[in-house]
Amino acid sequence: MGEIQLRLSLAIFTVILLIGGIKSEEKYHYLIKEFVVPLDHFSFLSNATFSIRYLYNDSFVRDQSNARTPILFYTGNEGDIELFAQNTGFLWEEAERKHALVVFAEHRYYGKSLPFGKSTFNTSMPEHLAYFTVEQTLEDYAMLITYLRNGTQRPVVTFGGSYGGMLAAWFRMKYPHLAVGALAASAPILQFPGITDCDIFYRIVTSVFANAYNSNCTVNIAKSWRVFETLGGTDAGKKQISDAFNLCSPVKSDADLKKFLDYVEEVYSNLAMVNYPYSSSFLAPLPAFPVRQVCFYLKDLHTTDADLLHTMASALAVYTNFTGTTKCLDISATSNADESGWNIQTCNQMVMPFCSNGTETMFRPSTWNFNEFSEKCYKDYRLTPKPYDIILRYGGKNIEAATNIIFSNGLLDPWSGGGVLQAPNDKIHVIILPEGAHHLDLRRSDPADPPSVRDARNKESAIIARWIEEF
Ligand SMILES: *[C@@H]1O[C@H](CO)[C@@H](O)[C@H](O)[C@H]1NC(C)=O
Ligand SMILES: *[C@@H]1O[C@H](CO)[C@@H](O)[C@H](O)[C@H]1NC(C)=O
Ligand SMILES: *[C@@H]1O[C@H](CO)[C@@H](O)[C@H](O)[C@H]1NC(C)=O
Ligand SMILES: *[C@@H]1O[C@H](CO)[C@@H](O)[C@H](O)[C@H]1NC(C)=O
Ligand SMILES: *[C@@H]1O[C@H](CO)[C@@H](O)[C@H](O)[C@H]1NC(C)=O
Ligand SMILES: *[C@@H]1O[C@H](CO)[C@@H](O)[C@H](O)[C@H]1NC(C)=O
Ligand SMILES: *[C@@H]1O[C@H](CO)[C@@H](O)[C@H](O)[C@H]1NC(C)=O
Repeated sequence: MGEIQLRLSLAIFTVILLIGGIKSEEKYHYLIKEFVVPLDHFSFLSNATFSIRYLYNDSFVRDQSNARTPILFYTGNEGDIELFAQNTGFLWEEAERKHALVVFAEHRYYGKSLPFGKSTFNTSMPEHLAYFTVEQTLEDYAMLITYLRNGTQRPVVTFGGSYGGMLAAWFRMKYPHLAVGALAASAPILQFPGITDCDIFYRIVTSVFANAYNSNCTVNIAKSWRVFETLGGTDAGKKQISDAFNLCSPVKSDADLKKFLDYVEEVYSNLAMVNYPYSSSFLAPLPAFPVRQVCFYLKDLHTTDADLLHTMASALAVYTNFTGTTKCLDISATSNADESGWNIQTCNQMVMPFCSNGTETMFRPSTWNFNEFSEKCYKDYRLTPKPYDIILRYGGKNIEAATNIIFSNGLLDPWSGGGVLQAPNDKIHVIILPEGAHHLDLRRSDPADPPSVRDARNKESAIIARWIEEF
């Protein structure tokens, strides 16, 4: 189903929303600047331009006139760049150690870097979406880096997490003369058609839940779909579900029920992604190892459907109501500019198939149907996705010609299924974090970090130092 694709793509996107929640505890400071870029880097017919934002901090630079000062450059991904700046503590720590210039660049079509202002996403002007590609974005970053280097040979290291990690890696592949290396954290560059099984994401989520407390957890979740569907078959049952979960707007129709079940599935995926070893204030504030908490509620098998229903509600509340201040559960929080941004990208280049084999995962069975997906993209945005575009441009699994890239992946991260887990040559470094969730290594150091994360950061720091030195 096309919707699976959208929902899971949302999962990447949700991280940003999650990150949004942390604003209250902002730690990092910077100047906000603008940089003028061509609207279309690949045409000589038009002079049109617009501005992208970037964040800039040179406080760690010891000698401003030193033409060898490193630049640590975050290749912004799907969201407001300030959110990434606050959640990429490792880059800041590295800048302090290496006396480097800090730059976080905002991805075109996100945050305040909108090429057509308020009308950027106006569906009656689908031509506004024509310049929303990975290639245009990398070109923005190439121009910005060239400007920042200001005629010197400053070594530049690109950093990124998730889609930002994909951009960091691809930037190094395509512009090796501008970046000495890339740290691509939790970057699923292989999550594309034909090179990664479409069910890998859900299989990893399932295994995270299966190993979190005891095996009854996934048994209960797998069983719950039938319970929801049976109950959802009657009006009284729909009311029971609405009451048990305290839904803001009660389930009235089959479409409402489907939306509710989609929401629950997405919560499981998000929980696996942000299964961090310390309490973090994301979309909802979460305890340390939230999946374990959820599975603690689901540790016993339940004999009646009503019993299971109430236990599921308690389990889900770990995510939706950890502070106890959620009045009612709102499952309709979907629409905003960033979400439309990522959905649009899945409808041009970022075609990532998802499916689930109901017997091997705790999720409902679903298939990947490209034609259906493509039709929806055309209907929504007048876009026809090109499923093999990314593989054509960036090589898919054939990246042996690339050098100086670190691919780090946490094995508890469902996106690791589409990550690079084997180095094709000795200039590409693969760092595995057995206990890591989604780009945990990019976050700031925390006393609760498992040793493997500390080791990973030390290795990354040493490799980056070598790139800078050898340059
Ligand atoms: C840059 O970061 C340093 C260290 O956190 C901070 O002291 C300084 O105020 C920041 N600079 C700007 C311009 O915000
Ligand atoms: C592009 O810039 C040139 C020189 O500044 C100007 O003469 C020309 O009219 C511009 N073209 C467009 C399409 O704006
Ligand atoms: C979108 O553009 C159309 C045509 O220019 C305009 O009439 C409409 O008000 C715009 N919609 C929004 C939401 O801005
Ligand atoms: C570039 O370098 C020149 C001198 O070499 C300096 O005057 C100018 O301010 C620099 N520009 C930037 C953007 O750093
Ligand atoms: C699953 O739950 C049952 C009780 O409902 C309990 O007897 C059993 O030990 C649990 N299984 C595991 C693996 O803990
Ligand atoms: C959240 O927790 C509080 C306190 O336990 C409770 O009063 C409230 O009903 C809960 N909200 C939801 C949506 O269940
Ligand atoms: C799911 O996987 C099992 C075992 O690998 C296989 O027998 C079954 O046909 C698969 N089901 C679907 C719907 O693909």
